[in-house]
Amino acid sequence: MKRLVVAVTGASGAIYAERMIKAILENGHGLDLVLSNYGARLLKEERDLPGEPRRLIDALCERYKISLADDQAVFHNNSDLGAPLASGSYPVAGMVVVPASMKTVGAIASGLGDTLVDRAAMVNLKERRPLIVVPRETPYNRIFMENLLRLHDAGAIVLPAAPGFYQKPKTLEDLGDFIVARVLDRLDLPPSQDLVPRWDPKS
Ligand SMILES: Cc1cc2nc3c(=O)[nH]c(=O)nc-3n(C[C@H](O)[C@H](O)[C@H](O)COP(=O)(O)O)c2cc1C
Repeated sequence: MKRLVVAVTGASGAIYAERMIKAILENGHGLDLVLSNYGARLLKEERDLPGEPRRLIDALCERYKISLADDQAVFHNNSDLGAPLASGSYPVAGMVVVPASMKTVGAIASGLGDTLVDRAAMVNLKERRPLIVVPRETPYNRIFMENLLRLHDAGAIVLPAAPGFYQKPKTLEDLGDFIVARVLDRLDLPPSQDLVPRWDPKS
């Protein structure tokens, strides 16, 4: 079972986190979950989901009728810098920060590492594992752009929360899945069934 770290931070777009977690669990991958305080708040405000990790996973399993394997989902406290994720020796296939606030983007770019989200992201970069950052803010100021460029230059994949509309999405979930599909492609973990149809100019 490949394990992925999902960090949910305080940017609008909790639907992206919700659909990301759903896709990882449904496809039988392991999930290491960490929520910032504002990530938890946005899950509650935008998606009516609990901000406590274990209750969040229970709620998502109920919402999407997912049965978890033993140890499939592991939870970490964002203030615990002694958690396994803080060490490069903890074997994960990669990490997604979804959605990524500009505060977290700046914190990772600055290399401080005083929350588990920031520290785990830096660990993935130093171990040369995929780190995918899904920023959400508009408009960008120069500082945001410079921080995103620093992440890109350090090896992260900056994958903005900017879904396409050529597949004619009908629901919020469709928009979420557009981004999730792009993230899973970047992790080389394509879902067992395509979340959104792939672009085919003939169709
Ligand atoms: C309702 C709400 C929506 C927010 N939306 C965004 C956003 O879209 N992008 C962003 O960068 N920050 C946004 N913020 C601000 C961040 O949550 C704030 O900067 C926070 O310190 C981020 O901390 P974190 O990265 O540790 O979660 C929002 C805050 C609130 C309360």
